[in-house]
Amino acid sequence: MVDIVPLSSYPSYIDLLPSIQTCNITNLPENYFLKYYLYHALTWPQLSFVAVVRPKGGYSSKGAKAGDVSGHYPKVAGYVLAKMEEEPTDGMQHGHITSLSVMRTHRRLGIAERLMRMSQRAMAESHRANYVSLHVRVSNVAALHLYRDTLRFEVEKVESKYYADGEDAYAMRLNLESMWMDWKAIEARDRENAKDEDADEGEPVGELGKKDAAEDDKMVRVKVGRGLGVGDLVEKNESQQS
Ligand SMILES: CC(C)(COP(=O)(O)OP(=O)(O)OC[C@H]1O[C@@H](n2cnc3c(N)ncnc32)[C@H](O)[C@@H]1OP(=O)(O)O)[C@@H](O)C(=O)NCCC(=O)NCCS
Repeated sequence: MVDIVPLSSYPSYIDLLPSIQTCNITNLPENYFLKYYLYHALTWPQLSFVAVVRPKGGYSSKGAKAGDVSGHYPKVAGYVLAKMEEEPTDGMQHGHITSLSVMRTHRRLGIAERLMRMSQRAMAESHRANYVSLHVRVSNVAALHLYRDTLRFEVEKVESKYYADGEDAYAMRLNLESMWMDWKAIEARDRENAKDEDADEGEPVGELGKKDAAEDDKMVRVKVGRGLGVGDLVEKNESQQS
């Protein structure tokens, strides 16, 4: 089972950064110092997402001996490292995908698509990004399919010899304005809801409250059909009680 979570939501996400870096080194020739991952995580905590293999015993690191995190931190199956462009040359607030990769063992399961969609939504909702941009090698068939056919990015231009080995890149972008939140409308709705809550007299207390609590405790016997697959069990219990 793979969970896709914002990097910042993980209880100790700094521990995950080396695994994210390993996932990057394993899958891509464009690599970064660990501090660059940390910079993303600290500056735009809501934009980067990580796909983690859910550990059998849950996510808790309780009980771990000092320095022993094996088996307590989940395995990283993929990640998207994203940021907001700090000095956009076109003056438009926009996001940028720094890096995306999924481990071979977990490909073609829709993980990259979900990572990308979650990051795009976060860019639009929390930063009101006009668009998201990225670069991709012209020879990267899988990534091109993902960006162009699945996510509907458009090629903006070809950047000659963009990569260190001399390969060209497609500079691609996707408009995000349709995902913007109408915060004024949301705030107005919240104000209306708050008014309704003020008008509510609250939970009954005293004798009245006791009466309601007693009624809540009353058991209601519900018939459960065989079609639900638990018929035999329930019928047996009922007959034992009567
Ligand atoms: C590109 C990459 C991130 C895709 O990850 P993934 O989790 O396997 O992708 P998904 O399962 O979400 O696939 C979504 C879509 O991408 C496209 N796609 C993914 N892998 C593909 C492949 N090998 N060939 C053709 N299209 C592919 C398809 O359109 C697919 O949709 P479909 O499954 O409905 O046909 C992954 O192959 C990878 O990590 N590659 C190495 C690193 C890399 O190239 N990163 C991108 C750098 S710009």
